[in-house]
Amino acid sequence: MTESPHPPISKAVIPAAGLGTRFLPATKATPKEMLPVVDKPAIQYVVEEAVSAGLHDVLMVTGRNKRPLEDHFDRNYELEEALSKKGDSARLARVQESSDLATMHYVRQGDPRGLGHAVLCAAPHVGREPFAVLLGDDLIDPRDPLLARMVEVQKQQGGSVVALMEVDPAQIHLYGCAAVEPTTDGDVVKVTGLVEKPDTADAPSNFAIIGRYVLDPGVFDILRQTEPGRGGEIQLTDALQQLAVDEKAGGPVHGVVFKGRRYDTGDRGDYLRAIVRLACEREDLGPDFRTWLRRYVTEEM
Ligand code: UTP
Repeated sequence: MTESPHPPISKAVIPAAGLGTRFLPATKATPKEMLPVVDKPAIQYVVEEAVSAGLHDVLMVTGRNKRPLEDHFDRNYELEEALSKKGDSARLARVQESSDLATMHYVRQGDPRGLGHAVLCAAPHVGREPFAVLLGDDLIDPRDPLLARMVEVQKQQGGSVVALMEVDPAQIHLYGCAAVEPTTDGDVVKVTGLVEKPDTADAPSNFAIIGRYVLDPGVFDILRQTEPGRGGEIQLTDALQQLAVDEKAGGPVHGVVFKGRRYDTGDRGDYLRAIVRLACEREDLGPDFRTWLRRYVTEEM
């Protein structure tokens, strides 16, 4: 068997230091990543996704309200003992799930200076290996594995890989947008350029970048030189644009086109859709909830 020329990926970086202004006042004292989606905080789904793609070393980039994030992935001995004494082994297992999930590390982003800056805070931990970035407020349905496919594409192609989703052209101004060329793989495109939140008229395509990346460590050198861009923030998209045009810097950049279910839990409408959909599909809650929902839609709307 010939060995892959590309080193394996074992580290995931989860930026979770944004201000979450779209969700105020709920996010005044709680990070938006801790908002519950049914009965688990959104961030737990994200860490579970990293682990199921084989990445067990997780670095979370946290901000001013970091305590709840750290506590959630730590042991809670008092609670565990109380549940144990009651003989409530089912709940005890659920409480322990999050602390047993992965090896967690934390780094503080003092000032939320943008996603690119948050990723740069991970440089000392990541070193010179390729690594994954999963946005803490972007929830990919657990049944639609995306990151594992991106890791596979990075292994084959080297360089960096982004996740793309086709959106209504009228919505492209809300996303980073990619200019692409087809490859021989149906779900993979070559990214030839990237632009952050373009107007519809200037957008090179309707391929939006969503919150999963597998990056060459060369991105750190570029981020160190990247000036604040759109919104006065250091934009990851601006650094990726450089990677796309410079193979020596950490390119090429490929895109995996995702057609599955994805929710931006930092957006109130999408957050509600995520809860309704995941609750409907749960074995324990789904049957009753679906019955109620059907009645609500037909009789009260
Ligand atoms: P968003 O663009 O959703 O920004 O960040 P935000 O500031 O958190 O949210 P709104 O728009 O004010 O409601 C995408 C991801 O990048 C992280 C966020 O936590 C989120 O997971 N992020 C963003 C950082 O970690 N640091 C930053 O400086 C900016």
